[in-house]
Amino acid sequence: MGSTQTEHSHGIQSPGLRDLGGLSSAESGFAEALITSRQNISPKRLVEPGPNPEEQVRLYRAAAAAPDHGLLVPWRFVIVPPERRSALANTFALALIDRDPGASLEQIEAAREKAYRAPLLMLVVAKLGDCEPAIPALERMVSVGCAVQNMLLSAHSMAYGSSLTSGQAMRSPRMRKLFELKEGEEAVCFINVGTVSKRKVGRVHPEPSSFVSQL
Ligand SMILES: Cc1cc2nc3c(=O)[nH]c(=O)nc-3n(C[C@H](O)[C@H](O)[C@H](O)COP(=O)(O)O)c2cc1C
Repeated sequence: MGSTQTEHSHGIQSPGLRDLGGLSSAESGFAEALITSRQNISPKRLVEPGPNPEEQVRLYRAAAAAPDHGLLVPWRFVIVPPERRSALANTFALALIDRDPGASLEQIEAAREKAYRAPLLMLVVAKLGDCEPAIPALERMVSVGCAVQNMLLSAHSMAYGSSLTSGQAMRSPRMRKLFELKEGEEAVCFINVGTVSKRKVGRVHPEPSSFVSQL
Protein backbone atom coordinates (compact mmCIF):
# COMPACT_ATOMS: atom_id res chain seq x y z
CA MET A 1 0.00 0.00 0.00
CA GLY A 2 1.33 3.47 -0.81
CA SER A 3 1.86 5.82 2.09
CA THR A 4 0.43 9.30 2.30
CA GLN A 5 0.92 12.33 4.50
CA THR A 6 -1.60 11.65 7.26
CA GLU A 7 -3.29 13.87 9.79
CA HIS A 8 -5.72 13.03 12.57
CA SER A 9 -9.25 13.21 11.30
CA HIS A 10 -10.86 14.98 14.28
CA GLY A 11 -12.53 18.11 13.03
CA ILE A 12 -11.26 17.76 9.47
CA GLN A 13 -14.12 17.46 6.98
CA SER A 14 -12.35 17.12 3.65
CA PRO A 15 -12.03 13.42 2.71
CA GLY A 16 -8.70 14.23 1.11
CA LEU A 17 -7.23 15.26 4.44
CA ARG A 18 -8.64 12.51 6.63
CA ASP A 19 -6.27 9.98 8.11
CA LEU A 20 -6.77 6.89 5.97
CA GLY A 21 -4.35 4.84 8.04
CA GLY A 22 -1.73 4.68 5.32
CA LEU A 23 -4.15 4.35 2.40
CA SER A 24 -4.18 6.87 -0.42
CA SER A 25 -7.61 8.19 -1.38
CA ALA A 26 -7.32 6.19 -4.64
CA GLU A 27 -6.77 3.01 -2.60
CA SER A 28 -9.68 3.93 -0.39
CA GLY A 29 -11.88 4.33 -3.48
CA PHE A 30 -10.65 0.95 -4.74
CA ALA A 31 -11.56 -0.66 -1.42
CA GLU A 32 -15.08 0.73 -1.64
CA ALA A 33 -15.47 -0.46 -5.24
CA LEU A 34 -14.14 -3.88 -4.24
CA ILE A 35 -16.60 -4.18 -1.37
CA THR A 36 -19.65 -3.08 -3.33
CA SER A 37 -18.87 -5.12 -6.46
CA ARG A 38 -18.33 -8.49 -4.71
CA GLN A 39 -21.04 -10.96 -5.57
CA ASN A 40 -21.82 -14.56 -4.74
CA ILE A 41 -20.85 -16.65 -7.79
CA SER A 42 -22.54 -20.05 -7.90
CA PRO A 43 -19.94 -22.84 -7.43
CA LYS A 44 -21.18 -24.25 -10.77
CA ARG A 45 -19.66 -21.18 -12.39
CA LEU A 46 -16.30 -21.40 -10.59
CA VAL A 47 -13.76 -23.20 -12.76
CA GLU A 48 -9.99 -23.76 -12.98
CA PRO A 49 -7.63 -22.16 -12.32
CA GLY A 50 -8.18 -21.55 -8.64
CA PRO A 51 -5.83 -19.54 -6.42
CA ASN A 52 -2.26 -20.89 -6.44
CA PRO A 53 -0.53 -21.64 -3.10
CA GLU A 54 0.87 -18.12 -2.79
CA GLU A 55 -2.54 -16.59 -3.51
CA GLN A 56 -4.12 -18.93 -1.00
CA VAL A 57 -1.77 -17.62 1.69
CA ARG A 58 -2.99 -14.12 0.82
CA LEU A 59 -6.55 -15.29 1.47
CA TYR A 60 -5.60 -16.68 4.88
CA ARG A 61 -3.68 -13.51 5.80
CA ALA A 62 -6.80 -11.53 4.94
CA ALA A 63 -8.80 -13.77 7.30
CA ALA A 64 -6.20 -13.22 10.03
CA ALA A 65 -6.83 -9.45 9.82
CA ALA A 66 -10.45 -9.81 10.99
CA PRO A 67 -11.56 -8.03 14.18
CA ASP A 68 -11.10 -10.54 16.97
CA HIS A 69 -12.21 -9.67 20.54
CA GLY A 70 -9.87 -11.43 22.94
CA LEU A 71 -7.60 -12.45 20.03
CA LEU A 72 -9.01 -15.96 20.17
CA VAL A 73 -8.91 -16.78 16.44
CA PRO A 74 -12.38 -18.37 16.76
CA TRP A 75 -12.28 -19.85 13.25
CA ARG A 76 -10.45 -22.49 11.32
CA PHE A 77 -10.68 -23.52 7.68
CA VAL A 78 -10.43 -27.07 6.40
CA ILE A 79 -9.48 -27.32 2.72
CA VAL A 80 -10.99 -30.21 0.77
CA PRO A 81 -8.29 -31.18 -1.77
CA PRO A 82 -9.18 -33.00 -5.00
CA GLU A 83 -8.33 -36.43 -3.58
CA ARG A 84 -10.80 -35.94 -0.68
CA ARG A 85 -13.74 -34.68 -2.74
CA SER A 86 -15.14 -38.20 -3.05
CA ALA A 87 -15.18 -38.57 0.76
CA LEU A 88 -17.16 -35.31 0.96
CA ALA A 89 -19.47 -36.49 -1.84
CA ASN A 90 -20.23 -39.69 0.11
CA THR A 91 -20.91 -37.65 3.25
CA PHE A 92 -23.33 -35.37 1.38
CA ALA A 93 -25.11 -38.41 -0.07
CA LEU A 94 -25.36 -40.26 3.26
CA ALA A 95 -26.48 -37.09 5.09
CA LEU A 96 -29.29 -36.74 2.54
CA ILE A 97 -30.33 -40.39 2.97
CA ASP A 98 -30.32 -39.93 6.77
CA ARG A 99 -32.72 -36.98 6.36
CA ASP A 100 -34.79 -38.55 3.62
CA PRO A 101 -34.51 -42.33 3.28
CA GLY A 102 -36.76 -42.08 0.21
CA ALA A 103 -34.42 -39.72 -1.69
CA SER A 104 -34.27 -40.54 -5.41
CA LEU A 105 -31.07 -41.57 -7.19
CA GLU A 106 -31.12 -38.20 -8.97
CA GLN A 107 -31.31 -36.36 -5.65
CA ILE A 108 -28.48 -38.43 -4.23
CA GLU A 109 -26.35 -37.79 -7.33
CA ALA A 110 -27.10 -34.05 -7.11
CA ALA A 111 -25.96 -34.07 -3.47
CA ARG A 112 -22.74 -35.89 -4.40
CA GLU A 113 -22.02 -33.57 -7.31
CA LYS A 114 -21.83 -30.54 -4.99
CA ALA A 115 -18.55 -31.85 -3.57
CA TYR A 116 -16.79 -31.53 -6.92
CA ARG A 117 -17.49 -27.88 -7.72
CA ALA A 118 -15.00 -24.99 -7.41
CA PRO A 119 -11.20 -25.46 -7.59
CA LEU A 120 -10.72 -24.27 -4.01
CA LEU A 121 -13.23 -25.57 -1.50
CA MET A 122 -12.93 -25.24 2.25
CA LEU A 123 -15.13 -25.66 5.29
CA VAL A 124 -15.47 -22.74 7.71
CA VAL A 125 -15.43 -23.96 11.29
CA ALA A 126 -16.46 -21.65 14.16
CA LYS A 127 -14.89 -22.32 17.55
CA LEU A 128 -17.70 -21.52 19.95
CA GLY A 129 -16.91 -23.65 23.00
CA ASP A 130 -15.51 -22.54 26.37
CA CYS A 131 -12.66 -20.08 25.99
CA GLU A 132 -10.46 -17.74 27.98
CA PRO A 133 -11.07 -14.80 27.98
CA ALA A 134 -14.79 -15.67 27.97
CA ILE A 135 -15.85 -13.78 24.86
CA PRO A 136 -19.55 -14.46 24.06
CA ALA A 137 -20.14 -16.92 21.22
CA LEU A 138 -22.15 -14.26 19.39
CA GLU A 139 -19.12 -11.97 19.27
CA ARG A 140 -16.91 -14.82 18.12
CA MET A 141 -19.39 -15.53 15.30
CA VAL A 142 -19.01 -11.91 14.19
CA SER A 143 -15.25 -12.50 13.98
CA VAL A 144 -15.79 -15.65 11.94
CA GLY A 145 -18.06 -13.74 9.54
CA CYS A 146 -15.50 -10.96 9.22
CA ALA A 147 -12.73 -13.47 8.52
CA VAL A 148 -14.89 -15.07 5.82
CA GLN A 149 -15.73 -11.72 4.26
CA ASN A 150 -12.06 -10.71 4.28
CA MET A 151 -11.29 -13.88 2.32
CA LEU A 152 -14.10 -13.24 -0.18
CA LEU A 153 -12.86 -9.71 -0.73
CA SER A 154 -9.25 -10.86 -1.01
CA ALA A 155 -10.29 -13.41 -3.65
CA HIS A 156 -12.25 -10.71 -5.47
CA SER A 157 -9.20 -8.40 -5.39
CA MET A 158 -7.25 -11.16 -7.19
CA ALA A 159 -10.08 -11.40 -9.80
CA TYR A 160 -11.36 -14.75 -8.54
CA GLY A 161 -15.02 -15.40 -7.97
CA SER A 162 -16.29 -16.85 -4.72
CA SER A 163 -19.38 -18.11 -2.99
CA LEU A 164 -20.63 -19.47 0.30
CA THR A 165 -22.63 -22.66 0.44
CA SER A 166 -24.32 -24.38 3.34
CA GLY A 167 -27.47 -26.51 3.62
CA GLN A 168 -28.80 -29.16 5.96
CA ALA A 169 -25.75 -31.39 5.58
CA MET A 170 -23.80 -28.85 7.66
CA ARG A 171 -25.59 -30.09 10.77
CA SER A 172 -25.14 -33.78 10.02
CA PRO A 173 -23.09 -35.84 12.49
CA ARG A 174 -21.42 -37.31 9.40
CA MET A 175 -19.97 -33.88 8.58
CA ARG A 176 -18.68 -33.56 12.13
CA LYS A 177 -17.01 -36.94 11.80
CA LEU A 178 -15.47 -36.31 8.38
CA PHE A 179 -14.03 -32.93 9.43
CA GLU A 180 -13.13 -34.15 12.92
CA LEU A 181 -15.01 -31.30 14.61
CA LYS A 182 -14.31 -31.05 18.33
CA GLU A 183 -16.78 -30.18 21.07
CA GLY A 184 -17.75 -26.53 20.74
CA GLU A 185 -16.86 -26.41 17.04
CA GLU A 186 -19.57 -25.82 14.44
CA ALA A 187 -19.49 -26.26 10.67
CA VAL A 188 -20.73 -22.89 9.35
CA CYS A 189 -20.54 -23.05 5.55
CA PHE A 190 -18.19 -23.81 2.69
CA ILE A 191 -16.14 -21.18 0.87
CA ASN A 192 -15.79 -21.81 -2.88
CA VAL A 193 -13.19 -19.93 -4.94
CA GLY A 194 -12.25 -20.13 -8.61
CA THR A 195 -12.25 -18.43 -11.97
CA VAL A 196 -15.65 -17.09 -12.99
CA SER A 197 -16.99 -18.81 -16.13
CA LYS A 198 -20.14 -16.73 -16.28
CA ARG A 199 -21.26 -13.76 -14.23
CA LYS A 200 -24.76 -12.59 -13.44
CA VAL A 201 -25.80 -8.97 -13.02
CA GLY A 202 -25.10 -7.97 -9.42
CA ARG A 203 -28.04 -7.64 -7.10
CA VAL A 204 -29.44 -4.31 -5.93
CA HIS A 205 -28.24 -3.78 -2.37
CA PRO A 206 -30.71 -2.71 0.31
CA GLU A 207 -31.03 1.00 0.99
CA PRO A 208 -29.26 2.08 4.18
CA SER A 209 -32.49 3.75 5.35
CA SER A 210 -34.05 0.27 5.56
CA PHE A 211 -31.58 -0.86 8.22
CA VAL A 212 -30.23 2.27 9.91
CA SER A 213 -32.13 4.26 12.52
CA GLN A 214 -31.34 6.69 15.28
CA LEU A 215 -31.86 6.15 18.98
C1 LIG B 1 -23.35 -18.37 5.98
C2 LIG B 1 -23.85 -18.27 4.56
C3 LIG B 1 -24.25 -19.40 3.89
C4 LIG B 1 -24.70 -19.33 2.58
N1 LIG B 1 -25.13 -20.47 1.95
C5 LIG B 1 -25.63 -20.39 0.69
C6 LIG B 1 -26.12 -21.54 0.02
O1 LIG B 1 -26.15 -22.65 0.55
N2 LIG B 1 -26.57 -21.40 -1.24
C7 LIG B 1 -26.56 -20.19 -1.88
O2 LIG B 1 -26.97 -20.11 -3.03
N3 LIG B 1 -26.07 -19.08 -1.28
C8 LIG B 1 -25.60 -19.15 -0.01
N4 LIG B 1 -25.12 -18.02 0.60
C9 LIG B 1 -24.91 -16.81 -0.19
C10 LIG B 1 -26.07 -15.86 -0.19
O3 LIG B 1 -27.18 -16.48 -0.82
C11 LIG B 1 -25.68 -14.58 -0.93
O4 LIG B 1 -24.64 -13.94 -0.23
C12 LIG B 1 -26.87 -13.65 -1.05
O5 LIG B 1 -27.76 -14.14 -2.02
C13 LIG B 1 -26.47 -12.23 -1.46
O6 LIG B 1 -25.81 -12.24 -2.69
P1 LIG B 1 -24.38 -11.56 -2.86
O7 LIG B 1 -23.43 -12.26 -1.92
O8 LIG B 1 -24.05 -11.72 -4.30
O9 LIG B 1 -24.51 -10.11 -2.49
C14 LIG B 1 -24.71 -18.07 1.92
C15 LIG B 1 -24.32 -16.92 2.61
C16 LIG B 1 -23.91 -17.01 3.92
C17 LIG B 1 -23.52 -15.74 4.64
